[in-house]
Amino acid sequence: VGDLLALTPAMGWNSWNCWGLSVTADKVKSSAQALIDKGLIDHGWTYINIDDGWESASRNSDGTIGTNDKFPDMKGLGDWLHSHGLKFGIYSSPGTLTCGGFLGSLDHESQDAETYNSWGVDYLKHDWCSYGKVAGNDTSREAYVKPYRVMQKALRSQPRDIYYSLCQYGMGDVWKWGPDVDANSWRTTGDITDTWASLYDIGFRQYKLSAFAKPGRWNDPDMLIVGRVGWSGNLRNTRLTPDEQYTHITLWSLLSSPLLIGCDISQMDDFTLSLLTNDEVIAVNQDVLGRQAERVFANDDYQVYIKQLADGSKAIGVFNLTEVYKPIVLNWNSLNLGSVKQVRDLWRQKDLNEIKSHWSYTLAPHGTVMLKVR
Ligand code: GLA
Repeated sequence: VGDLLALTPAMGWNSWNCWGLSVTADKVKSSAQALIDKGLIDHGWTYINIDDGWESASRNSDGTIGTNDKFPDMKGLGDWLHSHGLKFGIYSSPGTLTCGGFLGSLDHESQDAETYNSWGVDYLKHDWCSYGKVAGNDTSREAYVKPYRVMQKALRSQPRDIYYSLCQYGMGDVWKWGPDVDANSWRTTGDITDTWASLYDIGFRQYKLSAFAKPGRWNDPDMLIVGRVGWSGNLRNTRLTPDEQYTHITLWSLLSSPLLIGCDISQMDDFTLSLLTNDEVIAVNQDVLGRQAERVFANDDYQVYIKQLADGSKAIGVFNLTEVYKPIVLNWNSLNLGSVKQVRDLWRQKDLNEIKSHWSYTLAPHGTVMLKVR
């Protein structure tokens, strides 16, 4: 069953935030190759997920789905990914059409699951999109569960283990019923974009959902917006400042979110690479206890999150929500941390020399500090 998949959050790449509907097999391969060449694969990044835009214009005469000419050989692509130690993800919708207007899986779920299996697919993102037309005005939980149940049965009757990712933007409190359809993760919000407003709006609302995350079942606040992104192939550097990018990766790690890189990896600069290859930060995301951080303090200026880790230590994220430098004082006692013996700065990978009853630090505008305390 699905909860034995993704015992820690999925890590990898998805084509949407850079290529949008202009994705091609060559572009997918080029990001996959760069993920290997730049060494990201050695830090746990393994899924290569094709988002919308691979599907044929109409179904084959036997009802099976094919690809458009940008993806001449899906089985070959899957084999190539597997032979390089990567996993292969794909995208569909329970409706007749995907959000990009390509063919969805409605009434062809078993056939599509069989096709994915034959191509070697390891991950399906199943995106609500046009299913709203079928559901009509029915916004009951049953109405949301219904189409995802159909694909659950189709996927789970395949011999391959296929990660099941629900994408329906949090409707019907999906975190409450995602596990019932054996989903490994569920999108909790609408689409993210590369601005502070979007990052703030999505990221800093997730704390309410911490009780619903556990091994095999993750809240998904959408994909990463660092590096060169564009949604249409017109790539630009992310509009997040470097400090906002630290905040993004820190928060997604504390939230036990799936980590899906959204940029063209072949154009990744050293700063972005350093953000995504800090093993001490990634280890917080991948911690086997599988707890999502709790928000333990919030005012208008800053917030503090704490994530319990399997080894008994705790990861702490402090976030400056303002546009000015903010001096912050953390008092271990008032955070209920008991007697703190060791404090490590995870981005800098350095222990603090002297442990006092409190700790003070000046956070950059929209910046963060990420600590591990014992
Ligand atoms: C929706 C999803 C996105 C992406 C597009 C594809 O907007 O939320 O993540 O998959 O559809 O069309």
